[in-house]
Amino acid sequence: MYICICNAITDKKILEAQSKGCDSIDDIMQELGVGDSCGKCIVKAENLLIENAGVQRFDPKNLSSDRKNYF
Ligand code: FES
Repeated sequence: MYICICNAITDKKILEAQSKGCDSIDDIMQELGVGDSCGKCIVKAENLLIENAGVQRFDPKNLSSDRKNYF
């Protein structure tokens, strides 16, 4: 699937770069040129990196009830 239409960069290319050590959106942008035209793909590319790394976005709704008191 294309993530960056302007530069014909697929999710596969991004994940391949991530597996070779590009672990931030800045690294991916520099390595592949993602986002260097219209920029509409940057958030999508970053979310792909986060999802693939197994890191979940912080969401207070997912906290147990005793920990919600902190927010
Ligand atoms: S879609 Fe990636 S720069 Fe336009």
